Amino acid sequence: MSKIKTDLTNYLGIEKNIDFKSQQNNVFNIISNLYSSKSNPQAMTGWLNLPHDSGMFQEIDNFVSKVKSADQYQHLLVFGIGGSSLGAQALIESLKTNLWNRLSATKRKGYLTVDFIDNLDPVMIRTILSRLKLNKTLFVVISKAGCTIETIIPMLIAKEWTGENFYKQCVFITSKDKGVLSELSQKHSVPVFPIPENVGGRYSVFSPVGLLPAALCGVDLNEIKAGLIEADSLCHLQDIRANIAASIALCAYFSYMASRNIFVLMPYSTCMRRFVDWFIQLWAESTGKNQKGSTPLSAIGATDQHSQLQLFNEGPNDKLISFIKIYKHKRDLTVPDFSGDNQNFRAYAGHKVGQILNIEMDATRRALTENKRPNFTVTLPELNEFYISQLMYILEVATAITGNMLGINPFDQPGVELAKRYTKEALNLNPH
Ligand code: PA5
Repeated sequence: MSKIKTDLTNYLGIEKNIDFKSQQNNVFNIISNLYSSKSNPQAMTGWLNLPHDSGMFQEIDNFVSKVKSADQYQHLLVFGIGGSSLGAQALIESLKTNLWNRLSATKRKGYLTVDFIDNLDPVMIRTILSRLKLNKTLFVVISKAGCTIETIIPMLIAKEWTGENFYKQCVFITSKDKGVLSELSQKHSVPVFPIPENVGGRYSVFSPVGLLPAALCGVDLNEIKAGLIEADSLCHLQDIRANIAASIALCAYFSYMASRNIFVLMPYSTCMRRFVDWFIQLWAESTGKNQKGSTPLSAIGATDQHSQLQLFNEGPNDKLISFIKIYKHKRDLTVPDFSGDNQNFRAYAGHKVGQILNIEMDATRRALTENKRPNFTVTLPELNEFYISQLMYILEVATAITGNMLGINPFDQPGVELAKRYTKEALNLNPH
């Protein structure tokens, strides 16, 4: 298997009255409008340009090579929240596992350990700062607005703990010539990677926001770029069933219209927990407005078969369940034959663990389908840079299509801005 693909059989088998063709022209118009607006600074679709931004990929690559050859740092500490953190976390955990920091420097091939401070939780901030060798830490501070409280406050604490060299160990990823970080960068000569104005936080994973931290942990940017270019062409396919972004958007749209208000994302991979968190933010902040939108829900297979599956199978039929299947698991394990210990073990012997995981997924899909619970599956040939970047890009496009189908703006977040403003008021901060 060499291509990412969707299987809509269970969805269309249950939702027999749904006709994708009825929305075909609408969806293709939306896609065409999204792409034709990508150079418009007001349209917030600049993220569609990122796959082709060779200059940006090159600059990140050069920076990472310099960091590696200087051999000054062991750790990376990333400050940022929401769209300025989750994409990098998703990429690194999916591709390097959440045990990356426990590997030796040799096993990490000299790339940095990584921690993310994405909350104002004092216990977490203190624990992370006290565990790192701060003089061997590269600090990456990410904020498009350049003044987000949950990002700036931990940065100030890290500065206090690190001492006078702090800014020399910093890189900022922020808006060009705007905001507190941009001012600080000029004052203290901190290198800056700009976030394009027409790329919003939750669509910024393939800008330096997601790519720089990921590359500092050894994620292969060439493969990411190749995956994005492939995904870009997949999103232009004019066959509605072959166009994965369009298919996902249609399943989500029709489910919402049928009052199935919960959208479950269930990858069969523990490494994809953060990936689901990234998707939850993308989906919730993009489509939840004007009293519309479905609630994204995280589930991990097979773990949640022993937790939420009971609800999915027999609770209210108000969900669309999307499975993510990894066709071939990297570094798979074979179950040994210990049938001498117990005859029942014979059934497992010789199977790959990843194969059994997929058998479990197929069984879950079958059970849900028998109970008339709409579900579809996206299969990745492998969990690697080439396919994860395709999936993320396709989900971004699917989210933007769905938002447009619902008649809302998928690129703003007025509900978030309001709470930010009230916090600033409470702290007597300048509202801008
Ligand atoms: O997606 C979004 O727009 C938000 O989640 C932002 O990324 C988040 O609020 C952080 O904002 P900023 O990057 O301006 O600090």
